[in-house]
Amino acid sequence: MALPKKVKIVEVGPRDGLQNESKIVPASVKVELIDRLVSAGLNSVEAGSFVSPKWIPQMADTADVMASIIRKEGVTYSVLTPNMKGFEGAVAAKANEVAIFGAATEAFSQKNINCSIDESLERFRPIAEAAREVGLPVRGYISCGLGCPYEGEVAPSAVAAVAAKLDVMGCYEISLSDTIGRGTPLKAQAMVEAVLEYVPIEKIAIHFHDTYGQALANILACLEIGVGVVDSSVAGLGGCPYAKGSSGNVASEDVLFMLEGMGIETGIDFDQLLEAGQFICDYLGRASGSKASVALGCTESEV
Ligand code: HMG
Ligand code: MG
Repeated sequence: MALPKKVKIVEVGPRDGLQNESKIVPASVKVELIDRLVSAGLNSVEAGSFVSPKWIPQMADTADVMASIIRKEGVTYSVLTPNMKGFEGAVAAKANEVAIFGAATEAFSQKNINCSIDESLERFRPIAEAAREVGLPVRGYISCGLGCPYEGEVAPSAVAAVAAKLDVMGCYEISLSDTIGRGTPLKAQAMVEAVLEYVPIEKIAIHFHDTYGQALANILACLEIGVGVVDSSVAGLGGCPYAKGSSGNVASEDVLFMLEGMGIETGIDFDQLLEAGQFICDYLGRASGSKASVALGCTESEV
């Protein structure tokens, strides 16, 4: 077991966590959430998406959010960009990283971004080129890495095929996503191992939704084979609107609790992260999806 000494946590709560909320969360709340997460020591935060407001109304105010956050040196504020229009929004908003997001299955690609896998890659190529010209790092996502809500089981080779193309396009990191949380540890390892045939381990991130309670087990299995970048969402918020029934991302608090328990460094302050989670749960009027937060007795009225 060769666990990494350090793990980078990519906080996706302000984007993946909130995008599925039907009630619009005001920009000021999103800004406070992001600022709190950064104060807690998270230095990679996905702050929003430049996508069609008709598809994802909750992200329509990403430009306002980006304009109001307190930027901290060394922190990456990333946004999703499905096409050049999104990329232009990201540059205007001074995002310091953009993310392109594809899928391992045709059906999910159609539902999520209204095009085939090949078409999506064609749309991503100019984004990658433009990003290179202005020196912006590009992250790539691959949805449905461990199962698709429309096509069922997904072969690791299907994930690897898309990963190889995103790598050639210039993505510095590729986040293998279990969109519907159906993966189990050995399948998660098999997915990573298939991708490793084309992409080095340093570039691989994992993005696990916790729908079936498997996310922490899957993360541990991937850490054991050398993965060092983990996506998570404060308070376990989240779900993809185009993956019916998908619940939140694995909770950042729970990932941190596990990593600290194993002596793995992250640079994040656990108490401040708990408070950030409590802040957004109080706003949403809902209990935290983080087991660590619940166990430590955080309640709606405490913060
Ligand atoms: P489309 O309808 O095929 O695009 O959508 P279009 O180019 O024909 O444009 C249609 C309209 O959208 C036009 O406006 C465009 O201007 C506008 P209209 O003329 O009708 O008024 N539009 C835009 N507006 C703002 N920003 C843009 C933009 N692009 C077009 N960038 C499109 C294609 C990709 C735009 C659409 O399908 C879309 O926005 N999809 C986003 C879906 C999404 O955000 N899903 C959730 C994020 S992915 C996720 O959660 C998975 C992940 O977490 C990993 C995992 O867990 O699996 C990353
Ligand atoms: Mg997701």
